[in-house]
Amino acid sequence: MSRIFKNEAALTPEYIPDRLPYREEKLRLLKTYFGGFLERPGSMYPKVILIGRPGSGKTVTSRKFGEYVVKATNGRVKYVHVSCFLNRTLNSVLRDIGVQLNIPIPKRGFSTEELLKMILEMVRDKDLYAVIALDDVFHLVNSNNGPMALGTLIRLGEEYQSRNDSYRFGLILISQDLVFKEQLDRSSQSSLGNNIITFEPYTKDQIFDILLDRAREAFVDNAYDEEILKMIADVAGVDSEGGNKDEYRGDARYAIDILWRAAKLAEMRNADRIMPEHVREAIKSTLRGIRYDELRMLPLHEKIFLLAIVRSLRRNPNSPYVLFGQAENEYQMLCEQYKQEPRKHTQLWQYLMDMNSKGFVEIRPSGRGMRGRSTLISIPSEPLATLDDELTKIIEGDLGL
Ligand SMILES: Nc1ncnc2c1ncn2[C@@H]1O[C@H](COP(=O)(O)OP(=O)(O)OP(=O)(O)O)[C@@H](O)[C@H]1O
Ligand SMILES: [Mg+2]
Repeated sequence: MSRIFKNEAALTPEYIPDRLPYREEKLRLLKTYFGGFLERPGSMYPKVILIGRPGSGKTVTSRKFGEYVVKATNGRVKYVHVSCFLNRTLNSVLRDIGVQLNIPIPKRGFSTEELLKMILEMVRDKDLYAVIALDDVFHLVNSNNGPMALGTLIRLGEEYQSRNDSYRFGLILISQDLVFKEQLDRSSQSSLGNNIITFEPYTKDQIFDILLDRAREAFVDNAYDEEILKMIADVAGVDSEGGNKDEYRGDARYAIDILWRAAKLAEMRNADRIMPEHVREAIKSTLRGIRYDELRMLPLHEKIFLLAIVRSLRRNPNSPYVLFGQAENEYQMLCEQYKQEPRKHTQLWQYLMDMNSKGFVEIRPSGRGMRGRSTLISIPSEPLATLDDELTKIIEGDLGL
């Protein structure tokens, strides 16, 4: 029996708490926008955009709304949540929608157009209604043909009307900002409309309240002091006067992560409660600019290449940049160490572009042409030692070491 945890799951990213303090108003807005659709499914095609910084509660609020959708309509309207981080092509988004709607979709051998047609027809034949949330939609837009793919998805809901059927879908698009919208063609933009709900970064007091709920859920009595939660809220929240504009602040995920790590440390050290020193140590080992779940989901060799970039940057602490060529050499050494067949230059270049679009690394072309070994790479958002530890752990886990 743990002396600290009563229900550790309450601190995991998937957990949906009973209530969402400070997001009641956002939920109410969603209910308003979707009210007509939920009362009379098929009568209209609502579309809403949720934007806000990382950890401001967009995903959890949308999922919570999803629970409401199903409950309020007795299951008549379903809720489908698609991660565009995991599904970066139209084909893969459509497959995921199909799976979640229980539409049998053959594993392979069908083009995107055929899939689209299949879903359209099956949804009508099975008389389904659904609210579809496309989460982190900028990942989709940033991929090949992304803007067209999103345009197609937006218009998917309109297809039915032109076929003399009722509207089958409502749409929620989730993103950190509105850049994705500008990348769409005119007609998709206007069809998408302007129902935007903005999620502000959380203040210190708000983070404290969120942590308090989680701590009550997760820990045994007396395993923590409220001051511990305040201490975390101080580093994670923005000042209520708006003085602190640090772009990583206001992030509830970061705060919950620190709390979980501090509790784990306390447990590991056989302490009977979480102490300030556990929190300090946890803060040092918590990533800020990069999300663990995103890190974990990178392809193995992209992780190894990222570790190579980290290692080469650490070799040369006076410079913020490392040359692509240096990172490539380091990568080859790592592959040897991990007994992996190294990927080719062009593949590594693809990985670099991908990590750049995710904001894990920054790149700067150096004089002698892009794509080359002389491109400069930097990692401004994360202490390298933390990233090194974390990546090494994840990679060794992947390799079963
Ligand atoms: N108001 C809240 N009450 C309780 N928990 C919250 C609240 N807001 C966020 N959280 C929790 O904080 C974490 C981050 O929230 P969420 O994943 O919804 O952020 P996000 O806005 O989707 O961030 P990102 O843009 O990085 O995807 C989750 O564990 C979520 O459950
Ligand atoms: Mg999210």
